[in-house]
This record gives sequence, C-alpha cells and structure tokens, in this order.
Amino acid sequence: MTEPPAPLGLLAELTHRCPLRCPYCSNPTELSRASEELDAATWGRVFREAAALGVLQLHLSGGEPAARRDLPEIVAHAAAAGLYSNLITSGVLLDAPRLAALAAAGLDHVQLSVQDAEEGSADRIGGLPGGHARKLRFAEEVRATGLPLTLNAVVHRQNLDRLPALIDLALALGAGRLEVAHVQYYGWALRNRDALLPTRAQLDAATEVVRAARVALKGRLVIDYVVPDYHAHRPKSCMGGWGRQFIAVSPAGRVLPCHAAESLPGFRFPSVREHSLAEIWSGSDAFQRFRGTAWMPEPCQGCERRELDWGGCRCQAFALTGDAAATDPACALSPHHHLLDLALHEAAEAGREFTYREMGRAAAAT
Ligand code: SF4
Ligand code: FES
Repeated sequence: MTEPPAPLGLLAELTHRCPLRCPYCSNPTELSRASEELDAATWGRVFREAAALGVLQLHLSGGEPAARRDLPEIVAHAAAAGLYSNLITSGVLLDAPRLAALAAAGLDHVQLSVQDAEEGSADRIGGLPGGHARKLRFAEEVRATGLPLTLNAVVHRQNLDRLPALIDLALALGAGRLEVAHVQYYGWALRNRDALLPTRAQLDAATEVVRAARVALKGRLVIDYVVPDYHAHRPKSCMGGWGRQFIAVSPAGRVLPCHAAESLPGFRFPSVREHSLAEIWSGSDAFQRFRGTAWMPEPCQGCERRELDWGGCRCQAFALTGDAAATDPACALSPHHHLLDLALHEAAEAGREFTYREMGRAAAAT
C-alpha cells in the first residue's frame, strides 16, 4: 500500500437540522437525529487530528450549522487547532450577537447560500417564507463584522435565467466571491432532477454571462463556475479524486471520502468515535476503495486523463448506472453517457413541482 497524500480540506457536517427544505440538498435522504450528533469536545479532537494530518481548511456545514447552540465553542476548537474556518450557512438562524460571538471565537470566513435573486422564487425554492429577507439582513451583519463573505448560489432551471441579478446581488452584499454552483444530482436532487435540470440554451446564456462578468468585474468579484455534468463531455475531478484531498465527517461521526458517499451501498464507513482520522485516512477500506487508478475500469484505465479527473464522480456513477465503480456517465467515453441525454430530454418535458427535503425534526436552534 502506498502512503496517501495529505488531505487539504475537512468538511464537518455538524448537524442535519435545517430550517430550509431545499429540493437539491446534498444531505443524505436518511438524516441523522440531533441525539446522534457529536459533541463539541469530540469535534475539537477531530479538528486537532485533522490539523496533524495536514488539513488546512475546515468547512463547518450541515444542515444548518447554526442550529447548534454550541457553535462558538466548536469554532474556538477550530481556531485552537490552527485551521482556517469557513462557516457554510443559510444565515437565517444567526443574528448580530451570535455572529459577533463566532467572530470572537476565531471564525475566518462566511459562505452564505442564496436560493435566487428574486424574493418570491427564493423563498419557494428554499421552502421557508421570509428566508430570503433574513439572508439579506445577515449579509449586512457579516459585512459589519468585517468577516470576508462568499455568496453561494446553487443554480438550476428555475433560477439560472436570473444569474445577472445574482451577480448584482453579490456585489450589493459586498461579497468578494460568488460561487455559481450547478446542482449535483444525487440524494434529494436526484429525486427532483426533472424539475431542476437546465436546458442547453439556458446553460449557454449563463456561461456567456459569467464570461462577460469576469471581465467587467475583475478585481472586484471572483466568480467560480464549472459547466454542469449533464452538459459536459468530460467529468469533473470530484473531490479532487477519492481519498486524495478531502475528508467529510457526518453529524454522527462517520468519516466519508465525500459528503454524498453514504448513498453508496456496500460500505461500512468508520466512525471518529472508534478510530483516529489518521487511521481512517490511510487504513480504511472506505478511503482506499477508489483511491488512485488501480480500481478503474476501461475506458478510464487506458485514458490519458485518468490522473486529471480520477474517473469522475463515484456517487454520480452509482446514481446513474447502479455501479459505483463505473466510469462517470458525464464522460462522453462512458458506455452510459446516453443516460444524460435521456435525462435532459425527459426534464425538458417535465413540470416545476419539487419534492422538498423533509426534516421530520425541529429546525429551531438547540
Ligand atoms: Fe476521465 Fe475516465 Fe473519461 Fe478518461 S475515460 S476522461 S479518465 S472519466
Ligand atoms: Fe461522491 Fe462525487 S459526490 S464522489
């Protein structure tokens, strides 16, 4: 066994509780209960182990991480471990005093998600009446603290036409970066794929909007944008390659090579309650299964891009083919590539109704 490279980033999913109900949520369809969540002290130990492994960046996510009352304590543990902490939040549970407490605890960066630039549509997509207005107030408060702000806009057929307005919103809110993130289709999003997949014409228009905005706003706003898989000819390098750069820890403490890995069958994901991160990173079957290139089927095995995209996304391969070890169908060389065209064709005929993420649990902070 060759020694794996050091991981760069840790995604800490502190809770699955969330007041929003986005139909493209990246959480698993089986959500963890509050009673299963790791406590702050255990997160602190995990952060120290991550830093010792070489992790530099910590993403505090959920669900909505601010649903945890002990979030300042968790942030303080991150700062003490020397990690750069990024809070990924909907903003709707954080007021000025709570944000000040997080800044005082050592928070480095805030990433605020918005569902649309237009209030009625944003609240419909997020499934929370009044949510968009609360996000705008929160962004003002972030700016007042002086913390750097990234705006994250998940885009799809029902909001992509308002990309120019989303760029204007990022500027108005004082964000330094805008992530235009196309929906990834597994979990909840796969259930809603017909209502979410954009058309080719929408995508081409959006790509041109981004190109022009990057020129016009150089030095003012950084725009992250990747062509979505269903319209691509080659897949993205998901997670920078399985078990190469990235570790996710679920609310209950399961350690995953990607946030969606619990959708894959045939795995037993080890827990931080029983093993150190170092043991899991280097020794677990879960992290070794698709690490490197030895596991790859043809056409990946003989392909010159195999160490660029690492065969694409395992979760997407499973979602579309039933085989997590298949070449990602986003690749035009995959024998399953036609499935994407079929999905696009079906979505073009479909309506706009959502199946919302079901909480089944209280969304209030505890
Ligand atoms: Fe990537 Fe495999 Fe397609 Fe080559 S065949 S481009 S390695 S997904
Ligand atoms: Fe799991 Fe891509 S989302 S490997």
